Amino acid sequence: MGPLTQWHIVTKKKEQAHALIQEVMQYSNSVRDVIWVFEMGGWRPDKELWDAVQKASWDDVVLEADFKKSIQNDYRTFFKSEETYKRLNIPWKRGLIFLGPPGNGKTISLKAIMHEMDVPTLYVRTLTSFMGDEFSVRQIFERARQEAPCILILEDLDSIITDRSRSFFLNEVDGINANDGILMIGTTNHFDCLDPGLANRPSRFDRKYNFPNPSKEQRRDYALFWQGKLKDNKDIEFPDDLVDEFADKTDKFSFAYMKEAL
Ligand SMILES: Nc1ncnc2c1ncn2[C@@H]1O[C@H](COP(=O)(O)OP(=O)(O)OP(=O)(O)O)[C@@H](O)[C@H]1O
Ligand SMILES: [Mg+2]
Repeated sequence: MGPLTQWHIVTKKKEQAHALIQEVMQYSNSVRDVIWVFEMGGWRPDKELWDAVQKASWDDVVLEADFKKSIQNDYRTFFKSEETYKRLNIPWKRGLIFLGPPGNGKTISLKAIMHEMDVPTLYVRTLTSFMGDEFSVRQIFERARQEAPCILILEDLDSIITDRSRSFFLNEVDGINANDGILMIGTTNHFDCLDPGLANRPSRFDRKYNFPNPSKEQRRDYALFWQGKLKDNKDIEFPDDLVDEFADKTDKFSFAYMKEAL
């Protein structure tokens, strides 16, 4: 069942022990400069991920300008719109799905969002734990409701929402507990395998953003991005013809493959 740590406080005054425990709990819940990650059935603060997020920026994400803008508008507007949702009498929550083949910017876009937004991020890696999926799903949403307004990230949706966890998940998303202020963003490589009840019904996930393999134009932009990055490097020549040649020769490459090639 995994390791178990017990702490004993020895005191004559019960109130003092309680006060201490409260203080410690408050402190540990307010740890700054971390991202809360859910794995093995519990939430833990992750400093490494936080550090990585600090380096992330939309400037380093090469995407079609309109596409990038619409994602940015989406989450920025959501967090500013509590009043509007309330006035229209609809729950102030939203769900997005980032989908597409591996290596085309889903995760780096998430990191850029986390870096930009001044709200807590909760990052779910897996539901798997000896306590079972139902327990995990409950823990996740309980925490998200406490932290709201917040961003709840579910990486690899199709591995998180399975036949086993599906009903618990829907219960938490649609159920009686209000999810006000929660922006849920899920990612997937296999949109087709996702449960239609999740994929095609707004109010759970309201909008999908597709990150396909890049077009020739984007491959060119990516080569230009690298040309810019390397311009002060005296050991490397990156002539303009190479930009076009690169874009020509990388048909069907993902961004991650192009990065490797470069
Ligand atoms: N649109 C992009 N612009 C710039 N770099 C990109 C882009 N997409 C991917 N890359 C590069 O490829 C790497 C992998 O990208 P990322 O982790 O965002 O892929 P992903 O879409 O999340 O893939 P997966 O579905 O496998 O999780 C990034 O670290 C980055 O260097
Ligand atoms: Mg990813």
